[in-house]
Amino acid sequence: MLRLVWGTLFIAFCLYTGWVYLYCDEKTEIVQNDPSVAKGWELWQQKNCQSCHQLYGLGGYMGPDLTNIARDSSKGKQYMHGFIKYGTGRMPAFGMTDEEVEHIIDFLAWVDKSGLSQVPAEAVHWSGTYMIEN
Ligand code: HEC
Repeated sequence: MLRLVWGTLFIAFCLYTGWVYLYCDEKTEIVQNDPSVAKGWELWQQKNCQSCHQLYGLGGYMGPDLTNIARDSSKGKQYMHGFIKYGTGRMPAFGMTDEEVEHIIDFLAWVDKSGLSQVPAEAVHWSGTYMIEN
């Protein structure tokens, strides 16, 4: 009897894994082959932005989560540029060139396309996944 239960669970696991593999990959095809994004990622690490900011909730908590800042229509590129280039009383200015700041903004735009940091409850599908236009 126990064998039957485990066997059924194993088969269900294999079928589900196969299904996820075959049909649930459209949202994960966010290939990073843009050199500007790669440079932005490098700068993000060098300047240690994550010590104060989070991506998907992970990181320091002095500044806000930046996962989806790129899609926030009340902010935008100029806004991000201003913060990153000049800092604020609480956020340091890193003395980056305009070009470097643009790389970081491209990186943050790429991160944004990978998903949502805060998924609204009404967007969660019964299967536990969520469907939201990126
Ligand atoms: C010492 C901590 C610290 C570091 C390091 C830091 N930030 Fe910030 N950042 C902040 C704080 C705090 C704020 C909120 C603005 C304020 O209150 O002054 C902020 C705000 C921002 C904002 C605006 C966010 C919003 O939603 O309004 C952006 C964009 C940003 N930071 C990007 C970066 C990037 C990119 C780096 C790395 C190059 C970085 N920050 C490094 C502390 C930091």
